[in-house]
Order: sequence, then C-alpha cells, then structure tokens
Amino acid sequence: VSSRESSDSRKAFSYLMVAGGMIPAAYLAKNFVNGAIGSLSPSADVLALAQIEVNLSEIPEGKNATFKWRGKPLFVRHRTQEEIDREVEVDISSLRDQQHDVDRAQNPRYLVLIGICTHLGCVPIANAGDFGGYYCPCHGSHYDASGRIRKGRAPLNLEVPTYTIDGDIVTVG
Ligand code: FES
Repeated sequence: VSSRESSDSRKAFSYLMVAGGMIPAAYLAKNFVNGAIGSLSPSADVLALAQIEVNLSEIPEGKNATFKWRGKPLFVRHRTQEEIDREVEVDISSLRDQQHDVDRAQNPRYLVLIGICTHLGCVPIANAGDFGGYYCPCHGSHYDASGRIRKGRAPLNLEVPTYTIDGDIVTVG
C-alpha cells in the first residue's frame, strides 16, 4: 500500500530528473554541433594558403624546389632538356600507372607535383633513385623525372595538382 501511495510522487520525481537531464544534454549537443561546424570552416590563414604562386624564373635548371602548400610539400622542378627528352620517349605501356609525360607537364620545362609518395605518404628525395627523378627511402620507390612510379611499392604516380602558368608565374590551387 505504501508503495502504491508513493507511486505518483516517485513518477513525478523521475520525469523531473529525466527532463532536467535532457536540458543540459540538448545544450551540450548544440554546442558540440556549433563547434564541429565552426571547425569545418577554413580560417583566414588556411584560406590564404589555398593558392600558392611560384616564380619559375627563380628555380635553376636541373633543380627541384620544395614549397609548402595546404600543409603538403609541393615540388616544382625545372627540368633539363635531357630529362624532357628522356621522359617524352618513355613507352607508357611499360608503366604501372600509364600516363604520358605531355599529360603531366603543361610546360615541359617545369614539373609541378605533390611531394608525397603514393605508397604510405613519405616525402621522396629529388634527383635520386634509379630513374633520376625522385626516390622514396621509406620502402624504396623510384619515380622518374615526370614523377611516374617506375620501381618499388608505390602504386601510383606522384600527383599533379591543378595549376595554371602565366609567364613565369605558376599558380597552384
Ligand atoms: Fe614511399 Fe613506402 S612510403 S615507398
């Protein structure tokens, strides 16, 4: 009997506790969503890095310059005539990731690449390896002077980002 008598007041207490508990939960959820959306919007410094301009005339022939773009290494290589001739003549049927050199360099003198090995993401070393392009020492991947994978574990060529060239200025992004 005493249990039945107190049943109503106990229920009311339970509802209060549940309702009381939901208000802070809803508040926390709203704050979390706002925080999550806020962190998805790029900040001003990130927007400023969305594009990068590189002056090609400052890169000596035969050299690979490395820049930081969107938190990644960006390679810009001023190729020699010998490198261009060699890469253009490669029979693409012999390649793992079949791409012609002319489809990877808008201006054959300059190669623009994301400097991240397509195996597990190390940064390859320029002017090294069996094909004179790039070498990734992490697990031994060899890329040619077009950034194409030629030997080792990497499955794909080094990525060519979207870019435009206007005179001596290349704009990436
Ligand atoms: Fe480059 Fe493995 S990360 S070969």
